[in-house]
Amino acid sequence: MYRTHTCGELRIEHLNKEVTLSGWVQKVRNLGGMTFIDLRDRYGITQLVFNEETHKSLCDQANVLGREFVIQVKGNVAERSNKNAKINTGDVEILVEELNVLNSSELPPFTIEDDTDGGDELRMKYRYLDLRRAPVRDNLVLRHQMGFEIRNFLNKEQFIETETPVLIKSTPEGARDFIVPSRMNEGQFYALPQSPQVFKQLLMVGGFDRYFQIVKCFRDEDLRADRQPEFTQIDCEMSYVEQEDILNTFEGMTKHLFKKVKDIDLNIDFPRLTYADAMKYYGSDKPDTRFGMKFVDITSDVKDSEFKLFNEAEYVGGICADACAGYTRKQLDKLTDFVKKPQIGAGGLIYIKYNTDGTIKSSIDKFYKADELVELGKKFNAKSGDLVLILAGGEDKTLSALGELRLEMGERLGLRDNNTFSPLWVVDFPLLEWDEKSERFHAMHHPFTSPKAEDFHLLETKPGEVRANAYDLVINGVEIGGGSIRIFNDELQQRMFKLLGFTEEEAENQFGFLMNAFKYGAPPHGGVAFGFDRLVALFAGIESIRDVIAFPKNNSGRDVMIDSPSPVSKDQLEELKINLIEE
Ligand code: AMO
Repeated sequence: MYRTHTCGELRIEHLNKEVTLSGWVQKVRNLGGMTFIDLRDRYGITQLVFNEETHKSLCDQANVLGREFVIQVKGNVAERSNKNAKINTGDVEILVEELNVLNSSELPPFTIEDDTDGGDELRMKYRYLDLRRAPVRDNLVLRHQMGFEIRNFLNKEQFIETETPVLIKSTPEGARDFIVPSRMNEGQFYALPQSPQVFKQLLMVGGFDRYFQIVKCFRDEDLRADRQPEFTQIDCEMSYVEQEDILNTFEGMTKHLFKKVKDIDLNIDFPRLTYADAMKYYGSDKPDTRFGMKFVDITSDVKDSEFKLFNEAEYVGGICADACAGYTRKQLDKLTDFVKKPQIGAGGLIYIKYNTDGTIKSSIDKFYKADELVELGKKFNAKSGDLVLILAGGEDKTLSALGELRLEMGERLGLRDNNTFSPLWVVDFPLLEWDEKSERFHAMHHPFTSPKAEDFHLLETKPGEVRANAYDLVINGVEIGGGSIRIFNDELQQRMFKLLGFTEEEAENQFGFLMNAFKYGAPPHGGVAFGFDRLVALFAGIESIRDVIAFPKNNSGRDVMIDSPSPVSKDQLEELKINLIEE
């Protein structure tokens, strides 16, 4: 038997018990006459003691053990004289009687402790060592618990977990596909699923009624903290449902998870915000509603001003930051630099300080008299001590820049606390979005999303104004999930393909199988997919989904541990009849 207990298990009630432990050597400390070892496994750390006076040769053996050696010890549990309240086993230690070295280890390239000296890339290269660190392991344990509770909940709600294929035909989720050549079908390729979208709809046609799958999806897109090329969805679909049924079911699942995993009662109905209002008040379709600071549109109020910028701008609006009138020149310059960053793209920042002494100081003093600034302040509900920040310019760009400024102010004011959770549903997304480059409409969600019945009449005349039965779950400014009620009627689906500029032949080629299926009594259906990695990161209170994935890719989409992607042999290419173009 390698062990009678784990390294996280022993407590004062085990005093004098003879135990056997196995684990990794985290640290060896030789304190003249006594050697102490921190022995670690998945469950915790236990202190081992070797007494030189009574156990000379054991102690000599212990003194030469290196970091990450794998050892087994037998000994007796004793009470520690100086207890360590920071660890669960901190009241006890093991007086070692026997030591058995199970394996040696090279010196690890970084310290395997909660705070490590290893940089990101190094830890990714040696991910199996990084996984031994408690913070990384805890995130993966959390992931496991969440997966377990999701299955529990959905199982109780009659959902059937069903696997769908990975080698498929392209799915239209809007990113690039990863493609896989087929040896048996020369010159032809599979695509990896960007999501199981069409399969889950086919499962509804197949009568499954309620489907779910915790499933890998693949998207060849530019990576960010919340995006990986392969990521996991909690993918779901339901038959005979309306939007309200889906929102209620998955609001229920979200609440269940918060309660079971974090013991948090989300005793509220998740607010619903239309896409139009989300853009108007937050400049984003995934607003962080942990704090207010909603936009105030003053475009029409400043139309006839002497200030050319205001007069000519398509949109003028701003936010009011409570108790920030004390901001210094330097702080305001920093904010100005922030909004002028190319990725934010504002031309400049206008401020009005409503000082506590009653004076008003503003960057537009030249154009506005004090009483006019007081009037303007009323629009923002600005109180004495507040700071109003205003941007002006083209509508879309300014709303989005103001959204970034709002988040930045929220951050600076400490209003984005990771232990506060503010969920909401964003609903009524536009069905289509205009793409300047290809000069045609694209499906905002995907081509199977149904338009709102009351907007059907606009489909051909004003397609840009048609709203969809589509919704996103947003928590703390993160898009956690998205879905829609689907088109289940062949004729409407054809109309939609036409709007999207598919010829009949293209539609038939790409989605003929789905159109065919819809001819055989497809039930009304709809669904949603949650980004599992994002949900776990949110629960763990961290930004990057990399930290909740056992073997993630870096920002260039590489797995630096196994060194992939990598070239393949000439033979493999020949077998697939693939010629590489030499640049
Ligand atoms: P959508 O494309 O909105 O919808 O994806 C659903 C959710 O998946 C997560 N997500 C990602 N997470 C990590 N890395 C990525 N690259 C990534 N891309 C998306 C997000 C997102 O909200 N088939 C539809 C769902 C449906 O209509 O039922 C779909 O895939 O959290």
